[in-house]
Amino acid sequence: MDIRQTMVIVDLSGKCNQLIARCVRNLNVYCKLVGDNAKIEDIKKDQPIGIILTGESDGARPIEKAVKELGVPVLDERNMADIEGEAGMAELRDFLYNTCSAKGDWTMKAFSEHMISELREKIGTKKVLCALSGGVDSAVCAALIHKAAPESLTCVYVNHGLMRKNESEEIVRIFGAELGMNLIYIDAEDRFLGKLKGVTEPEAKRKIIGEEFIRVFEDEAKKIGSVDFLVQGTIYPDIIESGIGSKGLVKSHHNVGGLPDVIDFDEILEPVRDLFKDEVRKVGREIGLPEAQVNRQPFPGPGLGVRCIGELRKERLDILRDVDFIFREEIAKAGWDTKIWQYFAVLTDMKSVGVRDEVRTYEYTVALRAIHSIDAMTAEFVHLPYEILTAASRRITDEVIGVNRIVYDITSKPPSTIEWE
Ligand code: XMP
Repeated sequence: MDIRQTMVIVDLSGKCNQLIARCVRNLNVYCKLVGDNAKIEDIKKDQPIGIILTGESDGARPIEKAVKELGVPVLDERNMADIEGEAGMAELRDFLYNTCSAKGDWTMKAFSEHMISELREKIGTKKVLCALSGGVDSAVCAALIHKAAPESLTCVYVNHGLMRKNESEEIVRIFGAELGMNLIYIDAEDRFLGKLKGVTEPEAKRKIIGEEFIRVFEDEAKKIGSVDFLVQGTIYPDIIESGIGSKGLVKSHHNVGGLPDVIDFDEILEPVRDLFKDEVRKVGREIGLPEAQVNRQPFPGPGLGVRCIGELRKERLDILRDVDFIFREEIAKAGWDTKIWQYFAVLTDMKSVGVRDEVRTYEYTVALRAIHSIDAMTAEFVHLPYEILTAASRRITDEVIGVNRIVYDITSKPPSTIEWE
């Protein structure tokens, strides 16, 4: 794409620290992160306006020497003030705008306009298939393609019965009725819950959900026939974490699971593969997606399946949906929804004794969880104000039948994980 000047960041320690890259982007300059095993010829092809060296190094790497001989300004992060402080940011801004004469041409408005026209040209009248998950990445991809070639796009949304309260209805309303996309809605709740009957082991549940998702898609693909493009909501951290440096893979990315295997398509389309998550959200806003969709917190593919301990029966999932809804409502009411990375409820398989209207009860315990994180690799539990916990606790026990005890999860990751299963 030709709209932008490029800054190349060479990560000498190969650990893929994304912080400096995000800071450069926030200063409206496009940057590319490469590893310590990058080839100087490839860097040259990008015609960088400057190079930033980051990470620890013994100074003897061939790439470090080669970069310094390129004839473009080089900033060494090791000689800078802390990038998270004001002095570090001022130094970075000075390097970008004064030393490298950046124009500040990297904005999400320019990106959106350019991407839409590029997609329009590429797609023409060909057929595009996009699996909507409800997540922000696939939503923004679909919205970009819809702007570019509305007639070409078919979206498929599978309701596996493990979504949160009202979530599937919202997706159909926003993407179908409001945005006018050609949306195929598949209600597969009975199919998934049928397969999951009697299954309690966490990994077995995950496996069944993943496989069934592919089977549902396989059936749908037979009806749709072959398509030219399959959309994948890959984002830049997926690419980086799949390994840019000599230290290699951090994690492999599976945004659409095994879908490429069951769909007859010619090419993968990845409209947001150059963007960080916050940039994807900005593009979503730019092209008119509703705020609730753009700001959606991370939600796992297997949905409530990993938040409902024990068997996944509809009546248990309904209890969880109601509890989760109240908790989220109380957090939003107190204005904490924008301050927290992820917050949700978990239904345990433990029952305990309680009393309601002077009668003994024997009902479920639910757990509430709220965590702060930067990349989901580590997380800390949020010190939620007692007022929020109190209001949520009162409402949950008043409004949801089947729950008589509520606990707050006070563990961080590690040693626990964010999800319970
Ligand atoms: P854990 O539980 O591993 O979660 O600490 C880290 C982050 O990943 C999300 N998560 C998933 N996301 N498919 C997904 O798309 C999954 O199977 C899955 N499991 C966990 C979790 O919500 C958290 O943000």
